[in-house]
Amino acid sequence: MGRPTILLIALIASVHLTIAHPPLRGGKNKHHDHYNPIANDDFVYVDGLRLKDKTGLHYITGLNYWACMNLASDPSQGGNYSRLITELDQMAAKGVNHLRIMAASEGAPTPQPFRMNPALLDAPGKYNEKIFQGLDICLDEMGKRGMRATMTLGNEWQWSGGFAQFVSWATNDQPIPYPSSWNLTAPPQRASPRTGWGNYTVEGVNAAPYGEFTSFANRIYNNTQAEQWYKDHIKTVTTRKNTVNGRLYNEDPTVMTWQLANEPQASDGFYVEDSLALLPNAQDLLFPWVERTSAYIRSMAPKQLISVGLESKQGEYYFKQVHNFSTVDYATAHCWVQNWGVYDMYDSTETGLKAAQDFAIGFINDTSHWAKDIGKPIFLEEFGMARDNWLNRDKEYPYLSSASTTHKDPYFETIIGAAMNEFKNGGAYIGTSPWAYGGIWRPETEYVNELGMVWAGDPPHESPGWYDLYDTDEAMNIVARQQKDIAAWIAKNKH
Ligand SMILES: *[C@@H]1O[C@H](CO)[C@@H](O)[C@H](O)[C@H]1NC(C)=O
Ligand SMILES: *[C@@H]1O[C@H](CO)[C@@H](O)[C@H](O)[C@H]1NC(C)=O
Ligand SMILES: *[C@@H]1O[C@H](CO)[C@@H](O)[C@H](O)[C@H]1NC(C)=O
Ligand SMILES: *[C@@H]1O[C@H](CO)[C@@H](O)[C@H](O)[C@H]1NC(C)=O
Ligand SMILES: *[C@@H]1O[C@H](CO)[C@@H](O)[C@H](O)[C@H]1NC(C)=O
Ligand SMILES: *[C@@H]1O[C@H](CO)[C@@H](O)[C@H](O)[C@H]1NC(C)=O
Repeated sequence: MGRPTILLIALIASVHLTIAHPPLRGGKNKHHDHYNPIANDDFVYVDGLRLKDKTGLHYITGLNYWACMNLASDPSQGGNYSRLITELDQMAAKGVNHLRIMAASEGAPTPQPFRMNPALLDAPGKYNEKIFQGLDICLDEMGKRGMRATMTLGNEWQWSGGFAQFVSWATNDQPIPYPSSWNLTAPPQRASPRTGWGNYTVEGVNAAPYGEFTSFANRIYNNTQAEQWYKDHIKTVTTRKNTVNGRLYNEDPTVMTWQLANEPQASDGFYVEDSLALLPNAQDLLFPWVERTSAYIRSMAPKQLISVGLESKQGEYYFKQVHNFSTVDYATAHCWVQNWGVYDMYDSTETGLKAAQDFAIGFINDTSHWAKDIGKPIFLEEFGMARDNWLNRDKEYPYLSSASTTHKDPYFETIIGAAMNEFKNGGAYIGTSPWAYGGIWRPETEYVNELGMVWAGDPPHESPGWYDLYDTDEAMNIVARQQKDIAAWIAKNKH
């Protein structure tokens, strides 16, 4: 278990990809004919501790693909349609039926580091229509491949703008106290311009402590203006009409879930010594914020599901307070062994791996029990592990893709297997979704585009290549085997 300080420097957020170009019509791609497109009325719904669709039990074989809307956007916005289609086909071929993607990103009056660029929302009420069309394309292409979406509407962390940007807008563009983040232009740089590497910014030099940043971002919980603008965005996106297929977003079963935000944190919780858990604080502003926001989403999108995006690292009390509202359909969990100080990517020993596996098993067990207590399913929507980066230690970059994955693969088997076992044995788990698909991207060939983006599986505030899943990785076969295993189990246990 990480101590509070380890925790606070660690919060991970997520990841990402590249770019492409958007023809505003479907049917271009010949490769998805054998996938089952999502029918107009096939909404996923909750039945006790399970999800169901028209065919019966619905288990999520998911991946995080947060930059989908940017990859799918026009080349002038840094999009890359051919990469998008290649990667969607790759994921579909592995049986992936769910992508967790961003349906929000915020810009600022002046260029800001460490975040997705260009943003969907340049300023309150002012959208970049070309990025919105990218989101239209994502949903259309996903639907054709039988993939459903978690649409993430906000972010605790800086990599999409997120809460901090709403607070900044609402307070006369007050500067955001960014925590340590990856600076692509910092030394060391490679000989050829715009190919990396970069380094983290340093606390006390050009980075703030994590707690200072989260306090700033969490002012969204009681800043009326910031909340209003966030709700305005929720209204705009839930009621949008897809320019590719004409579906209203809130009438499209491709959208399985609207998610309040990526990893909202407690407003002013206190960590228990030597533990991930927080002391119970019934006054935490996070709770009424979840209640208000989820009720608002329900009023805008009554046919679809709602989740919070909580990591569920804060312990049982926070877990139950956040997820027990009637407008929250299922619980979420994120498991981050390195960021939480349980695992060290430079430790090659079996002991290190075992500690990570044991932690994951305990975390899945606890969260499954807590979810069952409140009668709701739970989705493990983020987890990851670095490659064997002890092999990269003396190389030019610590996150080279050439490193093997002798820890990551058994770790993935363990955590994915633990969730499947819960599902098969009456626990509350209904799927898993690793962080995050980097597909055909690699650090070795990385190129920073005109807009400052590399679109790796790791998002712009983190070292590219840390948690990427590449198309050729064994982890993708583990994901594929999960899907086959569950499909066979469901077929056998139907009656
Ligand atoms: C788009 O992705 C393809 C791979 O599918 C790559 O070859 C090409 O260079 C990318 N284009 C741009 C503009 O990044
Ligand atoms: C990133 O690094 C460059 C080169 O050291 C520096 O000029 C720039 O200020 C840094 N950016 C941030 C946001 O820290
Ligand atoms: C990044 O900076 C740290 C010090 O903050 C340094 O120890 C490390 O070597 C740097 N990374 C690289 C790849 O140079
Ligand atoms: C918002 O909440 C914070 C943290 O609890 C508190 O310090 C602040 O006074 C509150 N602001 C308002 C306007 O209620
Ligand atoms: C959850 O909500 C239900 C119904 O509103 C209530 O009966 C139950 O006590 C709540 N559980 C917790 C742990 O708050
Ligand atoms: C599983 O989690 C529950 C709830 O936290 C706990 O009571 C139980 O002891 C755990 N079981 C194991 C085998 O760790």
